[in-house]
Order: sequence, then C-alpha cells, then structure tokens
Amino acid sequence: DLTGVHPAWLPPGVFRAIGARRVLVLGDGPLTGTVRAEAEQACARHGGALEQDGTGSPDLVLALSAAAGQTPAARELLAGQGGSAVGEEGYLLARRDGVTVVLADDSAGLLYGLFHVVRLGEEAFTGERPAERHRPAARRRMLDHWDNIDVHPVMGQVERGYSGGSIFWRDGGPRGDLARVRAYARLLAATGVNAVTVNNVNVHATESRLLTDRLGDVAAIADEVRPYGIRVHLSVSFASPIRLGGLPTADPLDERVREWWARTTEQVYAAIPDFGGYVVKADSEGQPGPFAYGRSHADGANTLADALAPFGGVVHWRAFVYNHRQDWRDRSTDRARAAYDHFAPLDGRFRDNAILQVKHGPMDFQTREPVSPVIAAMPSTRLAVELQVTQEYTGQQRHVCYLAPMWKEVLGFGPWGADGRTVADVATGASGDGGGLVAVSNVGDDFYWTGHPLAQANLYAFGRLAWDPRLEPAALLDEWIDLTFAPAAGGDPGPLRRTLHALMDGSWRTYERYTAPLGVGFMVRPGHHYGPDVDGYEYTPWGTYHFADRDGAGVDRTRASGTGFTGQYPRPWSEVYESLGTCPDELLLFFHHVPYGHVLRDGATVIQHIYDTHFAGVEEVAESRRLWERADPGDPALHARVKELLDEQLRCAEEWRDQVNAYFFRRSGVPDARGRRIP
Ligand code: GCU
Repeated sequence: DLTGVHPAWLPPGVFRAIGARRVLVLGDGPLTGTVRAEAEQACARHGGALEQDGTGSPDLVLALSAAAGQTPAARELLAGQGGSAVGEEGYLLARRDGVTVVLADDSAGLLYGLFHVVRLGEEAFTGERPAERHRPAARRRMLDHWDNIDVHPVMGQVERGYSGGSIFWRDGGPRGDLARVRAYARLLAATGVNAVTVNNVNVHATESRLLTDRLGDVAAIADEVRPYGIRVHLSVSFASPIRLGGLPTADPLDERVREWWARTTEQVYAAIPDFGGYVVKADSEGQPGPFAYGRSHADGANTLADALAPFGGVVHWRAFVYNHRQDWRDRSTDRARAAYDHFAPLDGRFRDNAILQVKHGPMDFQTREPVSPVIAAMPSTRLAVELQVTQEYTGQQRHVCYLAPMWKEVLGFGPWGADGRTVADVATGASGDGGGLVAVSNVGDDFYWTGHPLAQANLYAFGRLAWDPRLEPAALLDEWIDLTFAPAAGGDPGPLRRTLHALMDGSWRTYERYTAPLGVGFMVRPGHHYGPDVDGYEYTPWGTYHFADRDGAGVDRTRASGTGFTGQYPRPWSEVYESLGTCPDELLLFFHHVPYGHVLRDGATVIQHIYDTHFAGVEEVAESRRLWERADPGDPALHARVKELLDEQLRCAEEWRDQVNAYFFRRSGVPDARGRRIP
C-alpha cells in the first residue's frame, strides 16, 4: 500500500472477502504473478491462506485454462463450457459446490477476473453462481495524459490538469519514485483500462525527445505498469524527423522520413517490447502536420502506422483538426464541420493499425454537444471515440460533475447505418477490433488523485464503460461508492450512498443548467476556461460563437439557411436536427438561431428557460451543499475537502447564473416572468 496517497477504490478492506479465504492461483503468464501477489497480500492481511497446489480445498480458484486440469473445480467449469476458450482478456466466473472459480485463457483475463471478485465481495462466496462469461467490448481502453515534463509557462505541468502536478514527471525529468505510477496502474486495472499515454498531445521540445534519447524514462514507466496489464503509448510530434532526426523535411511520403520513422520505432521496441504505439495531434492548434507538404492525413497516419506495424503497434491519429485562426466576421466557416470535412473523404484510406481518434462531439468537450457526425461517416476506418475525464469545461474538479450519464448518452447514441449501430458499436467494432474508447485522464499528484475526491468516480466510470459500454451510470456509482467507502463504513455505506447519489447522479445536468444554455457552449473565460464569460470567445479566432443579439441567440447550422452542418449527419438525424420542430431542445442553440420568444416543448420561452434553469441550477448546488454538511464519509479530511469545494461550486454557480441571466436580460429586455432579481 502506498502511504500518503488516498487509496481511491482499492482500500485494503475491499480485499477482505478474498483475503479471509483459501485461495488457489494456477498457471503461468506475465500477470499471473500479479494475481498471486494480490491474493497473497490479501490473505496475509485478512487471515486467509494462499494455497500452493491443487491438493487442498480452496474457496477461490483463479486458473488459466491451460492449468485448469490441476484442480477439479476449474476442470469441471472448463468442461461445462465445452472446453471452449474465453478469449483475450476475458474470464469465466462461476460458483459451484462452495468453490468460486475464475477461469481465463490469458493472465490478463485472470487479473480482470480477480478484480471482479473484489467488486462482488462476500457475494462472490454466497450461494451458487451459474457460469458468466466476461470480455472487454474493445481491445484497447486507454487514458491519455496531457502531462508535460517541463512546467509549461501557460499550461502548467499538466495541460487542463486540475489535480496538481504529473504523476510521471517532475521539474524537467522523470519522477524518481514510481510507486505512485504502480498504484495508478493497479487502480486502472481494477476498472479495465489497459493503455496509457504518458505525455501531452501538444508535444513541446523536451517531450518530443521521449521518442529518442529520453526513451529510457518511458521504459521505466512501462516497467511499472506492465504487471497490471497496461501498455504505454507516446504522443509524438509529426515534425520529429526534423526536430530529432535532423532531416530537412517531415513529408510523410519522403523516403528518408519513412526510414527515419521505421528506424526510430525499431529502437523504441528494442527498449519497450510491448510498447503500444503513437498518438498524434497534427495540423491542429499549431501542431505540425502533413498539410505543410500537401499530403493528406491518411498519408501522415499511414507512414507512422507502417513503422509500427512490424511490432504490432498502433497509431492513434486525432481528428481534432480545424481552423483556429478563423475570422469571426466570416459566417460561412463552421468549426463544427471541420473534422468531417477533413476526414470523411479519407474513409478506407487508413491502414489497419491506424486508428482515427475522434472527440465525441464536433466542437470540444462542451457540457452539451451533439455526437460527432464523423462517428457515422467512416465505416471502413477504425475509430476510437475520445472523451474527457478531466473536467476542462465541466467545472475543473472544483465542481461536482459526474460525467458517466453524459458518456452513456453519447455511447448509446444512434442508430445509424444499415445495421443500426450506436456510437459504442462503432468504437468497439463488430468483434472488439474497433478503435475503442480513449479519455483524457483527470489524475495528478494530488493526495486524492483527482483534486476533487468525488471526481475519482469519473475515472472509475470511464474505465468500466470502456470495458462494457452497456453498464449503467447509477450502478457504476454504486460500485465506486461501495468500494471506496464501504470498508470504512463497516460494510454499510447506505446513508452515504443516498447522499452521494443525490449529489452526483444529476450533477452533469445541474452543471448544464447554471452554465451555457441549450447546447450553445463556450461561454467560459478564454484561456483557462473556468467560470462564466458570455462574450469571452465571441470575437476570437477560435470558431466558438453564440451570435446573441437583441432578438435571439444560437448558431444556424441548417442546410436551409446556415452552415449546412446538419447535412453531415445520416438520416434520420440530418432531418431531426435540421427542423425546429424536431431538434431536441437541449441542442436547440447548437443547431438554430431562434428568437428569445421561441417556445420550447415544455411551454417555456427560450429566455424564460434561461432564467429558470439558471436559478434552478444554483438551488440544486445549494441543496447539495446542505446535504453534504450532514454526510459522513468516515473520513473527516475528505469531508472537509468536499465541503470547501462545494462552497466554491456554489460561489461559481451564482456567478454563472448572474452573468448569464444579466447578459440575456440586457440583450433581450425581457423581464423574468417570475420577477426574480436579475442584477
Ligand atoms: C482543447 C484544450 C486544449 C487541448 C485540445 C486538444 O482545445 O483546451 O488544451 O490541447 O483540446 O484536445 O488537443
């Protein structure tokens, strides 16, 4: 156990059910040692025993199928399944005749099975349990860290990080003590995550050298996370052949460039044989890319993919490409269109090991956006869907904002295509071979990992949804609460569970209510993006406008009279969004410019909706704060931290309410129908 760091969802007590029993671990394989060590540690703590061979009578058997023959319980389970394989990273779980059995074909599956038993606790050892088969929906479940080695003058060490410094890097070099990285890997494995990127997608000078002379630092991290089934990936600069290789060009079709990538990649694999691959942000917000050479993004991605292919690596090529130097006077350029315009024509032109990583919305991780139309437009490309666990636009880990309900809406969105696929179906692929889910991590060197202790739930829920997108956010919250708080609460976190559900279940919608209305987005302070500034981005080059005037607000993205963005969607969505009659209210101002008097489905006008939701959102935060005062998480320091943050959330929510309401009152001149004070 790591001292000086909050145990998050793996406090020692969650291993009690396992550790109090006789446990048998059978098989070899790289992660079996980890499973054995976990079981041994649990038994040492809670009075059980780790058995050495199959001759005893264990309560829990964790066996690789190749070793199942060594004990009757595992042998019978395998035979009962027709001897069939469970598949990569999967496991079978069953309980019969008083023995709980986890069976896996590979040692990663065994590890995930162990953590399943941890989640079940005593329930894993009660009654009978018919065999259940568990497999990850997608092969790769990944967290990107936007960590810099150096402290960047504007962005700090972790770009969009709200949890202190990096867990990997400090003061221009690697952190000497990587125990925390190991603990992080363990937490991630318990959720199902199996890949991390250790540096920022904006690759600065020092960080670009991780690919070459600083590779040893990456290898050291890989050594720490490997025992938990996690592979390391690296963000690399497209201009590396120039920056690091001394070549005059980074043209992806230049033979010297292709050779440089091949040679460099070979060296990476010599140092890190299970290296995952590259992440590239190219031609985006000032990063170099193939456009400089008149090449396409498929050309760019494929050159890196070819270098990685011999070693089984993948390149995650980001679709976040748009003009960030646009003239706000130009109404024809629409940032929402950019990713589709750039990438949809390239469908089918990416290599198999090139994964196009698409942000879930067409803009940039706003509180409310439609799903990116790119996700429906590239059936012949492996797509990964990118989410943001770090709360850049959702309260920066000072506000409670449980994001799983938003992700769940995104993942379940659809259907589209002949076979009625959802976003999750596209990301996971027909047989787990899709690009998978990726998210920007919210972790730093803060005591609670995530700044706001309750933001741990977002990290937990992301991993679990990446493993199985069908899981329910409220159930995931229960899992997280039980693991994190039950041991301290003597096994029954009941009252706390109710409080946390009241605080967290609806917190994303609460946040939406007191911030930017009806999907319009971006009313934040430019630069750091915290707190309200309605016109902050209105006359900037970033393409993020709301167009509010005295008569109305919103962006006309219709084909009939606007930017035509609605036409990027397949039917029925191209029609649903195009028409005021069918466009969902929560996205109204994303797709349409409407008068303040436009009537929403619940009968309220747009202007009245803005007033009502902003007053209501603040009330909800105030209520959360009252509830938390009476809550007992069994940890006074944690209680105090959350209380302090709720004070700040309330202050900030009031600021949002007053600025947004005042802004629209002054623009429209329409008073609040309920006569409340608008400053
Ligand atoms: C956002 C964010 C940047 C980040 C970018 C990205 O724009 O504000 O800090 O670099 O997304 O995803 O690349």
